[in-house]
Amino acid sequence: MRQKLAAGNWKMNGTGAELTELKALSQIHPAASVDILIFPPATLLSRASIAVQGTAISVGGQNCHAAKSGAHTGDISADMLVDAGATSVILGHSERRVDHGEHDEDVRAKARAAMDAGLKAIICVGESLEQREAANTLDIIGGQMSGSIPDQSTGENLIVAYEPIWAIGTGKVPTLEEIGEVHDFMRARLERRFGEGVGRSVRLLYGGSVKPDNAADIFSVSNVDGALVGGASLKASDFSGIIQAL
Ligand code: G3H
Repeated sequence: MRQKLAAGNWKMNGTGAELTELKALSQIHPAASVDILIFPPATLLSRASIAVQGTAISVGGQNCHAAKSGAHTGDISADMLVDAGATSVILGHSERRVDHGEHDEDVRAKARAAMDAGLKAIICVGESLEQREAANTLDIIGGQMSGSIPDQSTGENLIVAYEPIWAIGTGKVPTLEEIGEVHDFMRARLERRFGEGVGRSVRLLYGGSVKPDNAADIFSVSNVDGALVGGASLKASDFSGIIQAL
């Protein structure tokens, strides 16, 4: 059975003061039966990893560089994330694809580096509204998966998050049928590429306007193993509501 996972991406939000939310979350869920991952901004990663020590929560990075080290001003390597206490890293989020021009091959190279460093890579895929309206969703998702997911992936080091771009931070959510169609498609693609054993063990997350009041419905969809949550992960009480729906 795949372990359920609630992942909270704080994006570019949070200073030291917000660590209180992390501490509050760990008090509400001292021994969770699901995996809980929080992705604070890089400046908070070390402090966050210390704050969650001995709790059911792990922390991760929001991005990493594909190289191990070198002349890359402002970048962070996978080894540096590990050193700061990260167990995982989000890669290929649509905000990085748009804001930083990251393409599938960049995401794949970063994922290789992350996996080599012992991190779990949460690779994000998702269509724009235009692509959905043109009935291209599955082609887009299939292409992003082929291009972004490295060959060395396993059920341990890979998690895939389906995040329709038009659902991120908008309050709009695909229908449960639409989510199910994409998740079933992703599962089938993974099984075809990696074989049934690995394909069935990779966790698939849904992301895009997940809130405490819609989480249970979304989690009832087949092949949805959890959520990648943005806005609703910033407050311990909201994120806890989502964790409880898992
Ligand atoms: O990484 C998280 C997603 O982009 C979802 O963000 O929950 O604010 O819509 P959201």
